[in-house]
Amino acid sequence: MGLLIKNGTIVTAVDEFVGDIFIEGEKINAIGKELNIEADQVMDAKGKYVLPGGIDQHVHYSFDFKGERVRGFETSNAAIAGGTTTVIEFVNQEQGKGIAETIEQYDKEEVSKYAMADYSFHGVICDPRDEVFEEIQSLPEKGITTVKLFMAYKGLPFHSDDESIYKALRASRDAGVTVMVHAENADVIDTLQKECVEAGNTSPYYHAVSRPPLVEVEATQRAINLAKMADAPIYIVHVTAKEVMESIREAHNEGYPIYGETCTHYLVLDKEDLAKPNFEGAKYVCSPALRSEKDRTALWEAINKGWLNAVSSDHCGFNWKTQKHMGIHDFTNIPNGSPGVQDRLEILWTYGVNKGIISKQRLVDLFSTTPAKNNGLIQKGHLGVGYDADIVIYDPDHRRIISNDNSLHGVDYNTYEGMTVEGRVKDVFLRGKRVVSDGQFIGEYGDGKFLHSEPYGLCYEGQEKKETSTSS
Ligand code: URP
Ligand code: ZN
Ligand code: ZN
Ligand code: ZN
Repeated sequence: MGLLIKNGTIVTAVDEFVGDIFIEGEKINAIGKELNIEADQVMDAKGKYVLPGGIDQHVHYSFDFKGERVRGFETSNAAIAGGTTTVIEFVNQEQGKGIAETIEQYDKEEVSKYAMADYSFHGVICDPRDEVFEEIQSLPEKGITTVKLFMAYKGLPFHSDDESIYKALRASRDAGVTVMVHAENADVIDTLQKECVEAGNTSPYYHAVSRPPLVEVEATQRAINLAKMADAPIYIVHVTAKEVMESIREAHNEGYPIYGETCTHYLVLDKEDLAKPNFEGAKYVCSPALRSEKDRTALWEAINKGWLNAVSSDHCGFNWKTQKHMGIHDFTNIPNGSPGVQDRLEILWTYGVNKGIISKQRLVDLFSTTPAKNNGLIQKGHLGVGYDADIVIYDPDHRRIISNDNSLHGVDYNTYEGMTVEGRVKDVFLRGKRVVSDGQFIGEYGDGKFLHSEPYGLCYEGQEKKETSTSS
């Protein structure tokens, strides 16, 4: 019975050892050195690393920007091919509908048919009626334990004001739901965008000019203060700037349950990429904007030290020719977001581990273990007995140049085109089923299943610490 993966170098967030893993059905049944188990199938992983499948807690398969919609879950094989076995999707609540109602309909009509990776959802509050804040109490029963609000994007249907954020924080706290925010000052951005366009500065580079780091710093500090006032945890998504990271670190060090992530592109790309000629810069239009080397250095240090606890892709599959070109005469109409779910692991490995900035254990923690905890996915993110058999076999002796020709994102460009990556995702198992074999995706539509998130993810643990330390 089962599959025995032998002689691989097993890496978890806390360990590294040469050993064996025995998979039975969908679960890890045994793990250790020289397991003496008779298995139906044996796979030799000598010279390869054996990692837990990744959890990408920040992806967009349904995002709509001014009428342009990203590629959907029919492209989620890209996640699998990149070693990410679970994705967590942001679902914008439809006007007049509940959060769970919107999610359930989307899951039934689309996600469950196509998903090739396991999945869960963050509910994005877009219609802030009193009933919607009341609904937060019942979300955990439906397996939804995170809600998100956008402080940015003034004028778009998903923008939220401080009143909504404060109400969401208060409602979420007791339900064990974590509030996530995209923190940028929407009013300042709106003013700067209008000034740029009026002055004839319409090219993609002005995306960064109209979104300086301080718009992110200001909104982050405001979000932290709102969370303190509500006595609730908060999670700041896609942190890009040194000073933003420092605000989160300071609040966290004071004992507040305040957390943040960064994303792959903020670690390896630069705002100068937005200045590439012939509208190539539009490929890098994402929000917040790409920053500078100073920020990248600070972000690498932050993920190494745990001041930011996850690296996500913020995957957003817009086509360059047909969709990004909406903004050819006005950068404010370029759909925001870039693809990258397939490239997260190989980039972290190459530019983090192989450059000696983070250990392999840190990589596993940022890529898989902590995002699972953040989102209450208790059966995911670790190689241990009883955990789901989501396993990546990583071949370190491989080198390639990233090209859209071998990307599965389903769009016409790759954000990391031309970058060298070392190592490759050789094989992937999703709950025991082999879905990548020697680098080739071999799974199928519907392999992924909905994961019920548990309430009180990692974020709440800090809350308890703060209460203990202030009451003693
Ligand atoms: O520019 C981005 N990041 N697009 C996706 C939506 C968001 O803000 O996360
Ligand atoms: Zn965002
Ligand atoms: Zn995003
Ligand atoms: Zn901590």
